[in-house]
Amino acid sequence: MALLASAMPLHAGSDPVIAVETSSTSLVFAVRENKTVYQLYYGPRMAADEFAAVPIRDMRYTAGFSQAYPATGGRFLGEPALHLRYADGTHNTELVYDSHTVSRWQGTVTTAILLKDPLRKVAVRLVFDAYPAEDVIVEHTEILNEGSQPLRMLEYASGALSLRADSYLLSHVHGSWAQEMKLESEPLGKGVKVLESRRGTQNTQCANPSFVLSLGTEELREDAGEVVAGALAWSGNYRLAFEHDVEGRLNVICGIHPFASAWPLEAGEQFRTPEMIWTYSGTGVGTASRNLHRWARRYGLYGQGAVHPILLNSWEGAYFDFNTQTLLRMIDDAASMDLEMFVLDDGWFGGKYPRNGADAGLGDWQVNRKKLPEGIDYLASYAHKKGLKFGIWMEPEMVNPRSELAQKHPEWVVRSPGREIYMERDQWVLDLTNPRVQDFVFDAFDGVMKLSASIDYVKWDCNRPVFSFGSDALDDQDKFYVAYCQGLYKVMERIRAKYPDVLIQCCSAGGARVDYGAMRYFDEVWTSDNTDALERVRIQYATGLIYPACVMGNHVSTVPNHQDGNVTPLKFRFDVACQGRLGLELQPKYLTEEELALVRRCVASYKGYRDLVFGGDLYRLGSPYGSDYYGQLYVSEDKSRAVLFVYCIRFNAMGAEGHPFRLQGLDAGRRYKVTELNVDRSCWWGDGGVWSGAFLESGAFNPVMGSLYSSAVFLLEAE
Ligand code: GLA
Repeated sequence: MALLASAMPLHAGSDPVIAVETSSTSLVFAVRENKTVYQLYYGPRMAADEFAAVPIRDMRYTAGFSQAYPATGGRFLGEPALHLRYADGTHNTELVYDSHTVSRWQGTVTTAILLKDPLRKVAVRLVFDAYPAEDVIVEHTEILNEGSQPLRMLEYASGALSLRADSYLLSHVHGSWAQEMKLESEPLGKGVKVLESRRGTQNTQCANPSFVLSLGTEELREDAGEVVAGALAWSGNYRLAFEHDVEGRLNVICGIHPFASAWPLEAGEQFRTPEMIWTYSGTGVGTASRNLHRWARRYGLYGQGAVHPILLNSWEGAYFDFNTQTLLRMIDDAASMDLEMFVLDDGWFGGKYPRNGADAGLGDWQVNRKKLPEGIDYLASYAHKKGLKFGIWMEPEMVNPRSELAQKHPEWVVRSPGREIYMERDQWVLDLTNPRVQDFVFDAFDGVMKLSASIDYVKWDCNRPVFSFGSDALDDQDKFYVAYCQGLYKVMERIRAKYPDVLIQCCSAGGARVDYGAMRYFDEVWTSDNTDALERVRIQYATGLIYPACVMGNHVSTVPNHQDGNVTPLKFRFDVACQGRLGLELQPKYLTEEELALVRRCVASYKGYRDLVFGGDLYRLGSPYGSDYYGQLYVSEDKSRAVLFVYCIRFNAMGAEGHPFRLQGLDAGRRYKVTELNVDRSCWWGDGGVWSGAFLESGAFNPVMGSLYSSAVFLLEAE
């Protein structure tokens, strides 16, 4: 139970300023005479009282633009956080302050501001959970229909933020399959810029519900300047709108996408939005990322950043072409490489329509006895005997037309009456808005878990978006997109209640479901099907702006790379994949003795420092965009240990003379022993020596990285 510091609602008048505070930041609201609540400030922590004196001049064109939660109606004509349509067809809502409460629970301070429309009897509660140590504020909104008539929510954002700066640089990611997370930074001109997904499932395939705003600067700076970063915890359609108004404010509205999603609220009903996670940094995006990562590890991730086993995944090594012998051999090889888990990917199931390719079997989650006559338990137990954990692939939200399930339950497929059910990857989407389908998906997961008591990990895939949406189970199709995501979360709640300790990876044709909503249930994400290490440097960099390394599954695969044909050295592939949960995804029997020796060496060293990657603070050394060199280091919270990764990602003839990296995050006054890992001869002259943090941060660390795909890993240990 929350311990209420101020159980009594506070009313403005005596106290017109409401400050949501973390250790270093303040988010300030003020209640004005007309009882409108404005948001006046988000920045370095300061006493908020003086904001009571700030005049609000509701200008001709932008009246109400900096309201705490602007609603369509009154004089407000901007991008709304809330847009309601009432039973009589009218659209005007005017929210005024009612009261607010402040409560504390284990260090988290919750401020709830209650707004009401007295005419329409609508109540809106803005809830801010402040995490002081992490400088993170998590906001959600509760909308309650206190009237006697139903209404429709046409727009219902999780949160709104109004910023004031000379200029705004928006950094966000875009992409597609096998090239997710391409970072783009663009100055925001006047008007509205929108980041969104309308894909139903696969919400992060083409963009991510997150951003970094750099204030008053033209570049995304790592260690200087004001930055506001945000992420929406929602795995469905989303819309993040940035309205640069004619007076120079930037009004940010983030939430569920209103596209085709007018949500009905019956009299007395309430809707709770997903959470919006905000952080402010006065020292560049580096601090903003670390704030989010720390918050995520402590509060935002299912597994709270626990270290996960090093695995061999069967996909790129075997695809659909395997039998028991193939897999036993791979398990043997994984054990001999000192890995910790074997994951059987796609292709192990199917009844009448066996899954020997992507065109059949999804939905029929029984073992293909032709391929695997001894069954799954035989393999899983074998792995356990060899000292490995065992994992298995599923795609429970999907069905192939060539399956017994599609024949038995055509009404469970997402479809629109009279329309073609479009295919992608030869499959259809199951209608998770339907409680029976939710039961089926839960039972499918449960059934797979019952195949063996030795299943430790499930890779949950989702390989296509929704087209021509429609549900046989819904009488109101406007509910489809929101109810789908709610349905997914309901299933995951049930799965987590029964299987709290099973590791579950969130995969979606690579990185098409990478968001803090999914991460409440899943232990890790697969950031991309593109396993080319060069591409992964870029993908992991951009993912890491918002999400911590501990959730990223990274695999070493073969060359030429199966997605883009690139050829990189095995060591480079390892040095990239070790920044997260390491895995291998190749056929080990084709590795030479020399390669195997390097694998064992890299695996052994990783085991020694991975706690830093999973739990340390990330410091980026530059950016892989436009640079020839890039580095990242992870520093323990007490700054006694760090692991440093450096790469040459484009040839630079000067590299032969040593490229200076200025390390960060160390204790300047302490001395660190610096040891390069996985090599006999180091690329840095100072290797093996003991150097002060100040010296290492001076640029004196200049490893020789003369050839493309040179890479190195260094361990730093304080004396
Ligand atoms: C998706 C995943 C891959 C693999 C295949 C199997 O593409 O992203 O990692 O599991 O499905 O079909």
